Amino acid sequence: MKQINQPGRIHVVFQPKEKTSLAAEPEWHRHPAHEVLLDIEKEMEHLIGLADLKILVRELYATAYINQKRIEADIQTKGQMLHMLFTGNPGTGKTTAARIIASMFKRLHILEKGHFIEAERADLVGEYIGHTAQKTRDLVKKAMGGVLFIDEAYSLARGGEKDFGKEAIDTLVKQMEDHQNDFILILAGYPREMAHFLTLNPGLHSRFPITHHFADYTVDELYQIAEQSAHEKWYDIDSAAKPILMEKIAEEKRKQGFRFANGRNIRTMIEKAARKQAIRLMKQTTHSKKDLRLLKGEDFELSK
Ligand SMILES: Nc1ncnc2c1ncn2[C@@H]1O[C@H](COP(=O)(O)OP(=O)(O)O)[C@@H](O)[C@H]1O
Ligand SMILES: [Mg+2]
Repeated sequence: MKQINQPGRIHVVFQPKEKTSLAAEPEWHRHPAHEVLLDIEKEMEHLIGLADLKILVRELYATAYINQKRIEADIQTKGQMLHMLFTGNPGTGKTTAARIIASMFKRLHILEKGHFIEAERADLVGEYIGHTAQKTRDLVKKAMGGVLFIDEAYSLARGGEKDFGKEAIDTLVKQMEDHQNDFILILAGYPREMAHFLTLNPGLHSRFPITHHFADYTVDELYQIAEQSAHEKWYDIDSAAKPILMEKIAEEKRKQGFRFANGRNIRTMIEKAARKQAIRLMKQTTHSKKDLRLLKGEDFELSK
């Protein structure tokens, strides 16, 4: 892939690495010109579920690719706005997705640096008049050429008119105007709070052409995340433990409601189970490799 720079705009040229005969033409997305998409899709393979996100990523890629073709065909193309709103409960994969998208845009030269800055209210809001605008501008400056991800963005609206959070929102909007395609802003948060947040500044919603909702994982998906998380740490979940863990996951999900931290909660469960396994194994004098890897049902018991 080659990059052509023209004033004020970064262009991407997609070049197939090698010529393939028509007979051997692979499926479109397997075409060597699309190796960036291929790599990103491979990276997303380990993400359980998230079918909609995988479609969105492919659409973003295709749009960038076709935009380039349109430029080459001398069709007037407006700079694309790529700011996004991610809604969803905690642990549903919003940060993970934002990082993946940042790295894809970097490889497509849509973003110059493609770095990822995660921020929250305290990184934008200052303590005295004028401090907030400066802090927010500094943060945006750091994010130039990359992605600025603001988690729990609605917390900027906390405290109403007198709060400095409002100043942060206004400064952000201004920065988006002044540096239109130089950075990508992704705001994330609970669905209901985000909807309220967007009503506070009439210009806000239209600046985010891409909205994506991250649904809660099903118990089945959460179990798959648990298995994956265990394997990453070189543990195995005993097959007899599966119904116990499924029940525990369902119970936690029910008990905690919208506060249930989905993927994050599952990772914590595996860490806890590993600690319980250690206590259980300490009582033995010898430990086989299988013992050392195996997480049993009792390691996940509800009441312990
Ligand atoms: N689809 C998934 N597959 C595997 N792990 C996941 C998935 N979604 C989330 N996780 C894990 O859950 C944790 C929280 O994810 P994160 O992206 O930070 O969620 P959010 O930003 O929505 O709170 C991370 O450790 C992440 O790896
Ligand atoms: Mg997060």
